[in-house]
Amino acid sequence: MKIKLMMIGDVVGSAGVEYLSRGGRLRREAAERGADFIIVNGENSAEGNGITPTSARALLDAGADVITGGNHTLRKKNVFSMLEDGDKLIRPANYSSRAPGHGFTTALVKGYRFLIINLAGQVYMDSPSSPFDTLEKILDSEKGGYDAAIVDVHAEATSEKLALARCFDGRITVAAGTHTHVQTADASVLPGGCGYITDLGMCGSHAGILGVKTESILFKFRVGSPVTFEPAEGDVFATGAVFEIEMAGSNAACISAEAIKF
Ligand SMILES: [Fe+2]
Repeated sequence: MKIKLMMIGDVVGSAGVEYLSRGGRLRREAAERGADFIIVNGENSAEGNGITPTSARALLDAGADVITGGNHTLRKKNVFSMLEDGDKLIRPANYSSRAPGHGFTTALVKGYRFLIINLAGQVYMDSPSSPFDTLEKILDSEKGGYDAAIVDVHAEATSEKLALARCFDGRITVAAGTHTHVQTADASVLPGGCGYITDLGMCGSHAGILGVKTESILFKFRVGSPVTFEPAEGDVFATGAVFEIEMAGSNAACISAEAIKF
């Protein structure tokens, strides 16, 4: 049995959300590629970053089966109850146990149990605990309760993402990076059967800087004062990856990884 997983990088603002929703685009693109399950990173889906119940619901309505997060997930407090109650929206697992929400969830895909885990990096980021130790603990505690383990590594440093994937290659099925908003050209399958890409990229306007208006970012860099991030406009498209997974009992292995853009 083969299962295809489609993952989309950080969705930026209403432009990104609407792009996936309009005319059923996300579902259509997934169907064209034969994808059985869709994971979308939604931590920037609200205007000015963060995620709200409205943007999360819009992504689910557009076809996302699970929404992963990152360093901006807890920015808007009105999403806390959704993080607590739901099993389709997760935040980094290596955050404090006092943080609202859950760091992983399990979903049934064609009868197989997919454990979906969200982690945040520590290099150039302020995640409180090690994503490596956290992943180790989750895989141990959930042992026997899943058939494939899919990890969204929300991190700045390319080295940290690849290190985590290589460390757990053979124990996890996919490690896909998010956060930088720039898709990398290294979609591959590691020797132990872990599908990998350093960064999925984003869904949003590519006319500015990482989805934000060029003037906003230039003001921050050149003047040095904090600014409100205004979303860029135009040249909207989505990037991500499709991973094909061979299921053999509870031994899942990725057999192909392909970067996508639509
Ligand atoms: Fe981020």
